Amino acid sequence: MTFSHPSFGALDPDRIIIFDTTLRDGEQSPGFSMNLTEKLRMAEALAELGVDVLEAGFPIASPGDFESVESIARTIKGPVICGLARTGGRDDIARAGEAIRPAERRRIHNFISTSPLHMKYKLRMEPETVLQAVIDGNTLARDYTDDVEWSAEDGSRTDPDFLCRCVEAAIKAGATTINIPDTVGYALPEDIARIFTMLRERVPGAEKVIFSAHNHNDLGLAVANTIAAIRAGVRQVECTINGIGERAGNAALEEIVMAIRTRHDALAWHSGIETPKILRTSKLLSTITGFDVQPNKAIVGRNAFAHESGIHQDGVLKNAATYEIMTPESVGWTKSSLVMGKHSGRAAFRDKLRALGYGEIGDNQLNDAFRRFKDLADRKKVVYDDDLVALVDDEVMRGHDRIRFLSLDVHTGSKAKPRAELELEIDGAAQSAVATGDGPVDATFNAIRDLFAHDAVLRLYSVGAVTEGTDAQARVTVRLEENGKMVDGQGADTDTIVASARAYVHALNKLLVKRARTEPKALSA
Ligand code: KIV
Ligand code: ZN
Repeated sequence: MTFSHPSFGALDPDRIIIFDTTLRDGEQSPGFSMNLTEKLRMAEALAELGVDVLEAGFPIASPGDFESVESIARTIKGPVICGLARTGGRDDIARAGEAIRPAERRRIHNFISTSPLHMKYKLRMEPETVLQAVIDGNTLARDYTDDVEWSAEDGSRTDPDFLCRCVEAAIKAGATTINIPDTVGYALPEDIARIFTMLRERVPGAEKVIFSAHNHNDLGLAVANTIAAIRAGVRQVECTINGIGERAGNAALEEIVMAIRTRHDALAWHSGIETPKILRTSKLLSTITGFDVQPNKAIVGRNAFAHESGIHQDGVLKNAATYEIMTPESVGWTKSSLVMGKHSGRAAFRDKLRALGYGEIGDNQLNDAFRRFKDLADRKKVVYDDDLVALVDDEVMRGHDRIRFLSLDVHTGSKAKPRAELELEIDGAAQSAVATGDGPVDATFNAIRDLFAHDAVLRLYSVGAVTEGTDAQARVTVRLEENGKMVDGQGADTDTIVASARAYVHALNKLLVKRARTEPKALSA
């Protein structure tokens, strides 16, 4: 590759650009929405992980989306900050341009469908009108930034000749990255390889742009298709942490990165990802969204490095390489280590948080987290790193909440009707309520409803454990629905009922953030 890219300058031809869309394609899937604080925390973690491009959202979708892209552009240093826009929408492109303006390096990513099916039924546009929109949209985007990406939505099901014409038009209009998404996860690896090989051979100007792959996982092929794309000359891959995304998800960042690292013998490329930070980033996303990855998930699942059978255990003890193709440490797994006990001081606590990958935490959050740590150390024999991570993520994420949990006493048993005495801080004022219910959790949720009336319906209640043992912290997820809007809240505590109250309050806060946003326009991406 001989040209100079507007954001990356002269590119190392062996370098794969990691384009993370966890906060856009990932966040737009049901149940995965995040509030501003959560998006900022996640963006910070992605920057620390070393992603090259961070797609922060879809600014035209709602004022809330605009605000989060703008805040990320203003505060997150390192990656190119990218905002999504529809190619045909002048307002879309202008909003994206405004939202990314504060970033040091910024990109507009505009997209329009090019497949016969999408053009006829979704867009109701003739191919020639779509082609003109590609020219106009990319020309306009260049008014806001030199780093412009264009995507042919449903590109893998697009007529090859028309795809070539659109790509040529986008390049002429100023696009510097050309992304061909397999929007519906339909393609096989050989289809993906054929498409990129064709574009690179046939399109005039192809040598002046970076080609990018964006694969969905409907057939479980997203990562395989991404590897096929790299082999066919693609130098940017679009992916998400834990593979979250529309329907079956997007290609998982951690799987692509570790595939090219582990199989460097066959895949002679490299990325800028700091792989020991992968697990931490994956766990943060699970804490924020309330969705744990399945135990057998590659790289980040609980069992990814667990060896159950005697034969395997014996082999690993003699030489780990017998059954481990990469070391657990290379992706961030460590032996769960002891943290300080209840006599440890604030400075040691702060040091420990730094070692766990938390940057600077504000004094108020640190004090609150430290108080909860002391409380936990009083109640729990052994405090592990995972306990601390659950506790601090809980605290850091709740920084701007209108409703805060203060205390809970529950009286329950086989005879008495369960009764909860709850104290919450609502808009800065402490308030308390006593309520009964069909169980301690029900009583607690009734007390919350008494203190903060709302119509949301409980759709899911689930309990997991942060670590092992009967004194482990419970991690509770609560899903609430109001007027078709769904939010998930999380809470962790050694007391399952307290964790439930925290999770409910968290979900309620997220609902308040959602309410504050105006209705998103009808969008398709
Ligand atoms: O899957 C898709 O086609 C997309 C585009 C907006 C890039 O997410
Ligand atoms: Zn997508």
